[in-house]
Amino acid sequence: METVLSGIRSTGHLHLGNYFGALRNYIKMQDEYNCFFFIADLHSLTTHPHPDDFHSGVKTILTEYLASGLDPEKSAIFVQSDVPEIVELYVLLNMIAYKGELERTAAFKEKVRKNPENVNAGLLTYPVLMAADILVHRANKVPVGKDQEQHLEMARLLARRFNNLYGVELFPEPQAFNFGSDLVKVPGLDGSGKMGKSEGNGIYLFDDEKTIHKKVMKAVTDAGPVEQNSKMAEPVENLFTLLKIVSAPETVVQFKEAFNNCTIRYGDLKKQLATDICRHTLPIREKIEEIYKDEAFLQRVIKRGTEKARESASATLYEAKKAVGFRSF
Ligand code: ADP
Ligand code: TRP
Repeated sequence: METVLSGIRSTGHLHLGNYFGALRNYIKMQDEYNCFFFIADLHSLTTHPHPDDFHSGVKTILTEYLASGLDPEKSAIFVQSDVPEIVELYVLLNMIAYKGELERTAAFKEKVRKNPENVNAGLLTYPVLMAADILVHRANKVPVGKDQEQHLEMARLLARRFNNLYGVELFPEPQAFNFGSDLVKVPGLDGSGKMGKSEGNGIYLFDDEKTIHKKVMKAVTDAGPVEQNSKMAEPVENLFTLLKIVSAPETVVQFKEAFNNCTIRYGDLKKQLATDICRHTLPIREKIEEIYKDEAFLQRVIKRGTEKARESASATLYEAKKAVGFRSF
């Protein structure tokens, strides 16, 4: 069975973009692949989060993933820093990662431009740590967004380079992975672009009913169609895109017809949209509240996930160290 692995950054809350764009696919993958999902807490240290917030960020994201349907019986769910084998492989890979190629990474250049006062070595070698995350489980498939493609290319490069240098076939080259064909891009409610944490336009799984209605009712629209079958402006199209994701097909058809014959009332569309978003998110929100309080459950999940992850990681690390030439006395 092929191995799927993905790392999740431990900041903020999950929004509808994360849920419909990524998580729903992860949930389906669990039945068909050997899955590893982990929280990349070491990666988040590049920006020096306050120690008081660090753990609660990890706990929040873990809780929200579990509440959304990641299943600890099916997948290994763990925290990156609980698996020291990752860090050890990271050291080995750092020796074959070159400064020039790391400096050319788009994400690194972007960070340097945005925060010139914090260009630390961890930032430069971010892709090496990510390669260690992936290669330590010899993962074949990595479900990530387009922004991570270059990092994945680095993981493939380091896998090949290690294999060639030491004359082994230890690491498979990990490929980007879209599960199924129903990959969606969830738009924001502010008229253009996608829903995102940093965009500040998110509806969160954690939001209550009132908050969701308030956010949706504030969504940008236009003055309404004046001609039959006119072209939709982007903000309105975005509302329809969301409606298609969360509502019944008949509902979409009904509002589309109303748009086409100019009888649409955006207020009604928004009310329906908010109600249908709540239908998806409120059961998850209830579970989030339940799970967050259940320390014993979270401990069990992490204990089990860490065991599975360390078993797989230590087998790989053993082979890697043997290839490099380490021998114990
Ligand atoms: P953000 O920082 O906006 O919360 P991330 O970049 O951490 O999101 O993405 C986590 C996962 O969620 C990725 O797989 C990404 O492709 C997916 N994702 C994020 N926003 C959206 C969106 N608006 N539509 C579809 N998928 C999304
Ligand atoms: N860099 C990824 C992101 O920013 C998170 C991540 C860390 C990751 N390690 C990984 C993703 C390994 C996939 C595989 O979203």
